Amino acid sequence: MPQELRAVGWTGNSLALIDQTLLPHRNETRDVRDVDTLVDAIQRLVVRGAPAIGAAGAYGVALALLQGEREGWTEDQVRAAVARIREARPTAVNLMVCVDRVMTRFEEGLEAVLEEAAAVQREDVDGNRAMGAHGADWLLKRVAGTVGDRPLRVLTHCNTGALATAGWGTALGVIRELHARGRLEVVYADETRPLLQGSRLTAWELVQEGIPHYVQADGAAAGTILRGEVDAAIVGADRIAANGDTANKVGTVGVALACADAGIPFLVAAPTTTVDLATATGDDIHIELRGEDEVLEWSGVRTAPAGSRGHNPAFDVTPGRLVTGLVTERGVLEVSAGELPVDRLK
Ligand code: MRU
Repeated sequence: MPQELRAVGWTGNSLALIDQTLLPHRNETRDVRDVDTLVDAIQRLVVRGAPAIGAAGAYGVALALLQGEREGWTEDQVRAAVARIREARPTAVNLMVCVDRVMTRFEEGLEAVLEEAAAVQREDVDGNRAMGAHGADWLLKRVAGTVGDRPLRVLTHCNTGALATAGWGTALGVIRELHARGRLEVVYADETRPLLQGSRLTAWELVQEGIPHYVQADGAAAGTILRGEVDAAIVGADRIAANGDTANKVGTVGVALACADAGIPFLVAAPTTTVDLATATGDDIHIELRGEDEVLEWSGVRTAPAGSRGHNPAFDVTPGRLVTGLVTERGVLEVSAGELPVDRLK
């Protein structure tokens, strides 16, 4: 069993982040000691995935306190630095939730802040393990009804593994659990344009775990599903609105539509902290619009003609009615009467 990956670690006085922009070719850890570097790391996706940026943000409060001490900041300056971390990316609610949670201990000082950040990290790993078991139980009960005893073929989009979380993974955690139970045949990992979180990161994690998989172009997903080559799809989430609408990596909604048409389950796996009851519907979720070059270039080389503009939303919204079930650390919440009743979770 390979050693469990830790995308986010606390060294005692700095943050250790696996640089996810370099994987799979280089596995290097960045030592982050100041707020500007952390904000930049979150924005450039050195650290990415909703729960992982939540954990990085949680420790970011400690970084701001330490930097403030070194550089003689006022309390207001420390709070302003924390606010910049909180706003580094807009879509994943986990970043805001985790920073706010740690800030409830701010007045108690560094030790309390670190204790809370460690709790965020620990609870995320525990929650992911629970999610893995609930999701695997659900799939084996529901899908095994149609496929019998044969192992399952599962499609996933983007990266939701140990790299995207504090450890183990959400949707990829369910997939790992199926594999551990000997009930997984193969994973179809969508490559995830434009930054290739699927082909660079999910595939890398699957290789480490010895899990059989195909990397496929995002555009192949609907056809693979409609040809009957997939038993279920499972993805993560960045924010789930009060009506069940789910923001996740761009391309997710196409997977959900194909699953609905094929009549196979489309599951979302996310901790209950990803549910944001203060956001009424998917229309109210702020979808991050990233730089045009990410779609106009390939590996730093311009591929689109001069004069083309790039449209680069990092996420899309899947209507709650298309989500067959939401796998959380507490169990699986199923869509009923065309709605995902997420208000039951809080
Ligand atoms: O832009 P990214 O790589 O941060 O996007 C990540 C996703 O969309 C994940 O599916 C989501 O954050 C859940 S990670 C457990």
